[in-house]
Amino acid sequence: MKIVKARAHTNIALIKYWGKKNTDIIIPMNNSFSLTLDHFYTDTKVTYDENLKKDSFSLNGEEIESQNVFNFLDYVRQLSGKNGFVKVESINHVPTTAGLASSASAYAALAAASSKAFGLDLSRKDLSRLARRGSGSATRSIYGGFTEWIGGDNDLNSYAKPFQENVEWDIRMIAAVVNSKPKKITSRSGMQTVVNTSPFYGEWVKNANNSIPLIKKAILDKNFTTFGEISEENAMKMHALNLTAHPHFSYFEPQSIEIMQAIEQLRQDGIEAYYTMDAGPNVKIICEGKNSEVIQKALKLKFPEIELLESKPGKGIQFLD
Ligand code: PMV
Repeated sequence: MKIVKARAHTNIALIKYWGKKNTDIIIPMNNSFSLTLDHFYTDTKVTYDENLKKDSFSLNGEEIESQNVFNFLDYVRQLSGKNGFVKVESINHVPTTAGLASSASAYAALAAASSKAFGLDLSRKDLSRLARRGSGSATRSIYGGFTEWIGGDNDLNSYAKPFQENVEWDIRMIAAVVNSKPKKITSRSGMQTVVNTSPFYGEWVKNANNSIPLIKKAILDKNFTTFGEISEENAMKMHALNLTAHPHFSYFEPQSIEIMQAIEQLRQDGIEAYYTMDAGPNVKIICEGKNSEVIQKALKLKFPEIELLESKPGKGIQFLD
């Protein structure tokens, strides 16, 4: 019997991954760039036991028959050359309402804990390649801080690389939770609709790839204005692309737009903040630590009912005792 516990934090993409060139092993169309967050994480315990008759998976104490998780475990078993089964117990410390990609921390933690439980000793690069097969955004959650996913074109050359693991810049991300029904269009289906039908898709790929060296330079220069503008513009391009798909779709809700406008107003008033959005209605605000309080106060005044969750840069994968 072998028990391994791992913790992985989620990440927010500043230059988004939006579309695959290979949907089976998850090879993205463009490179992406993210910040790992400290506030949201998944703890996963994997028990390898020769006496188990099949794999099992529970999330927050509830047994779940997830074919995606079982397929992932089959792949790890095959890599390890072993025949035994595992019991997987995950606890998600990503508030389900936060609309943050919990699949990122979930598959990064599962990749780390399951590979070790099956007796593999993978490098972080190989863990990143493995996590990628569970969920694209998980590729980047192996590393802390600012991370790039080199898209590549096959299983060997598609993995994440740390750009700055120890962020020496007081960057914050505030998730503004827009209460809504569960999203109708998953990232998995939304992004491929865009790949297959948007006449502007080729331009998105070029533009996203070109933005990565620019955002890296802004980070090295600690130029928050350029950093924020590049992030916000990339997110808006992704969401604009969704409106050009067939059928067209959008993750914006009226309140998402109101929050984005409130951030623009704050900027006009001299308080720097930028926004980004993923495959859901919540708005994530990027700011410097010195402005976080005043931004949160202004948002609370305008939208007393919304929940605000603040994060700082977070760590990469950790094995727990
Ligand atoms: O890997 P997924 O299925 O969680 O897709 C992530 C898609 C975005 O969050 C919108 C962008 C990204 O790069 O994380």
